[in-house]
Amino acid sequence: MVSRAGAVAINGGDLALGGGLLALLRPALDLLAPGGVVALRSSSAGVRHDLPSWCRFERHTYLECEPQSDGSDLHLVGRGRFAVAYATDAATGEADPHTGFAPLGARVERGGPRYPFTINRRDSAPPPQTTRQLYDQATLAQWDAARDIPWDRVQPLSPIVERAVGQVMTFLAENELSALYVPSKFVARLHPAYAETAMFLATQMMDEARHIDVFLRRARAGGGALGVSSVTTSRSLLSLLELEDFTEAAFLLSVLGEGTFLDLLRYIERHAPDEVTAEIARRTRADESRHVHFGVMHVRQALGCDAALARRLEETVRQRAATLHGVSGVPAPIQDALTILAAGSDEPGAVARGHEAFRELLSDMHAGRLKRLVHAGFTPAQAQLLSELHTPNFM
Ligand SMILES: [Fe+2]
Ligand SMILES: [Fe+2]
Repeated sequence: MVSRAGAVAINGGDLALGGGLLALLRPALDLLAPGGVVALRSSSAGVRHDLPSWCRFERHTYLECEPQSDGSDLHLVGRGRFAVAYATDAATGEADPHTGFAPLGARVERGGPRYPFTINRRDSAPPPQTTRQLYDQATLAQWDAARDIPWDRVQPLSPIVERAVGQVMTFLAENELSALYVPSKFVARLHPAYAETAMFLATQMMDEARHIDVFLRRARAGGGALGVSSVTTSRSLLSLLELEDFTEAAFLLSVLGEGTFLDLLRYIERHAPDEVTAEIARRTRADESRHVHFGVMHVRQALGCDAALARRLEETVRQRAATLHGVSGVPAPIQDALTILAAGSDEPGAVARGHEAFRELLSDMHAGRLKRLVHAGFTPAQAQLLSELHTPNFM
């Protein structure tokens, strides 16, 4: 196949249209933009008859036949306009839901069905390059709940500390379940023009699945049992699951919720009663920091594109706080368990220190939220308000 001025030339020899010639002709047409021309040299008399009707059927344009001095024909075929350029419409900024699952960069035949994607705008998805980098980091950083944790080193603990560990792990696993379910809901709504976002969310879901696994294993590893699931936690997580807007979900789940979890996991690592618990907290925090990074850059981009968004996000946080009306603080079972974890025993002096450590955790969480909210693009005053309205469930 040789390119010549404005056209692609192919030599079909004596191939019949139905005898292999199409395997040369179709790819040659496919190389061209609509309106481009394929010059087909052919010595097959049948092609003279078959080619014009094939062109009509396939929506290409049969231009003309030039007889050649050696008795062959030169058929000129114009590339039809049936394929559409992929993805974003320059006028509306929206990706076309009729391109279905065609990967970005493919040329798409016209007439495909409309897909039910609702996240079709570039500014409603996170920035592609950073998302791609986070996806690459996530795939490299995968670890295994069974193999990479030294489960054989779990130490027997005093009953009160063992119960505290069981309660903390129950609370973590419950919140992790929401962190698995919430992103899953948005994957099917994302236009594949933003496939890197769906791919990143898949790594996040794998991370959360592993976190659920590892926390439940730890709860039971020392012969202990799971703890209590509180109504406060349940209400807080339902309000996450009910979100219908991707950016709101990224904001509440990743910036505020998982962001706050970074401080919680640091606390658990610092006060862990054994190296296994510390290792679990360290590894899950490394994963969570990717999820938080993803959420922060998503919200930062969205705030930059939409001047009314900050107000809308504030309203979402207010509404969420209203669903937790009457809840004054952190659920008691987790508050007590975190206190005992830091105390390390039931000795009153140690419990006083544990209580103090827990108070410090709450102020560390607030300070961390302020920092992340400002990083995401809010003013310090907005950040202060949003952090104060954040759920006492942490996530
Ligand atoms: Fe997680
Ligand atoms: Fe997460």
